[in-house]
Amino acid sequence: MTNDIFEPKSIVVTGGCGFIGSNFVHHVVREHPGVKVTVLDKLTYAGNRENIAGLPADRVELVVGDICDRDLVNDLAASHDAIVHYAAESHNDNSIANPEPFLRTNVEGTYTLIEACRAHGTRYHHVSTDEVYGDLALDDPARFTEETPYRPSSPYSSTKAASDMLVRAWVRTFGLKATISNCSNNYGPYQHVEKFIPRQITNLIDGVRPKLYGDGKNVRDWIHTEDHSSAVWAILTKGRIGETYLIGADGERDNITVLREILKAFGRDADDFDWVRDRPGHDRRYAIDSSKLRRELGWEPAHTDFAAGLAETIAWYRDNEAWWRPAKEATEARYAAQGQ
Ligand code: NAD
Ligand code: DAU
Repeated sequence: MTNDIFEPKSIVVTGGCGFIGSNFVHHVVREHPGVKVTVLDKLTYAGNRENIAGLPADRVELVVGDICDRDLVNDLAASHDAIVHYAAESHNDNSIANPEPFLRTNVEGTYTLIEACRAHGTRYHHVSTDEVYGDLALDDPARFTEETPYRPSSPYSSTKAASDMLVRAWVRTFGLKATISNCSNNYGPYQHVEKFIPRQITNLIDGVRPKLYGDGKNVRDWIHTEDHSSAVWAILTKGRIGETYLIGADGERDNITVLREILKAFGRDADDFDWVRDRPGHDRRYAIDSSKLRRELGWEPAHTDFAAGLAETIAWYRDNEAWWRPAKEATEARYAAQGQ
């Protein structure tokens, strides 16, 4: 099947100062020289302008602002070829402690963006998560596909599901020129220390025992964030309008296995961690079948050696303490208050 190639010269990347959005900005600057990027980011606790520092000023501009700001979003949609939407409240545990910001940013923010794109005929790519599909049993031979029914479990994933539904409805009813991607768990540099892998790495650097939820058998399907970026670019430029593409790299592992790989890298005993209170509603297993993306768009992941990617990620956190240190104490204080 051949698709028309979309060749944007200017794109807005929302959430481009966060973990995955900033990786995408670096990816575009490095791999696609003719494209100018405007980052729209509110710089919440999860956003850091350092993530895009040093990129050429004639290629990347940072606009500090809220995706719920209609006038600002409208101006940006009018003056760019595409919006690639990463900005979100992204952490499940935070959504359980306080869902309100998730509704505002993830639902109202998406609505604001797609209305602006509709008004100006701007191409829109919606970055979403495999969590919209709920979870699978550990022994279920199935994986998520584009046809799996939505069954989100947490306030976070339900707001992401709501945002996906808005995009689908805007495509069908208003002819919005949009694509959607649902990706599995990302890892790599610049991930906030609230998330599983960076939390355990930075705990070990600090001489603190890692913390494992529940029975440690929950499975996540890990993908290097650089592979997520190359997939989003492929979908933006070659994907069919109105289609959803699942992104994954066949990286299923249970949490205790990942934790023990990290412990080994620090020369620590395999049982040198604390069991802590489980996450309420904790999804058991995620698993992505990305064959549609591979078949239709010819995408393949490049970072298929998880052990090597994890070792590089550990080295990055060891070398970049100044980046993560300011967030560490407050993050751990929040977890301690929750018994985690
Ligand atoms: P993150 O929390 O690291 O970054 C989110 C960014 O969005 C931050 O820079 C923050 O300042 C910005 N932001 C938040 N609210 C905003 C608002 N109202 N206006 C403008 N900017 C705002 O998140 P992440 O882990 O990089 O995730 C990025 C996207 O990818 C999210 O949509 C998430 O649902 C999706 N996703 C994440 C993963 C994962 O493993 N982390 C996997 C699949 C999909
Ligand atoms: O699947 C994609 C999703 O992956 C994204 O949509 C989310 O934005 C992203 O945060 C991530 O969600 P998870 O909830 O899977 O990621 P998290 O890093 O919070 O946790 C990964 C697993 O590790 C999960 O089973 C919970 C567990 N965990 C987490 C922390 C922080 C622990 O056992 N201990 C911990 O300290």
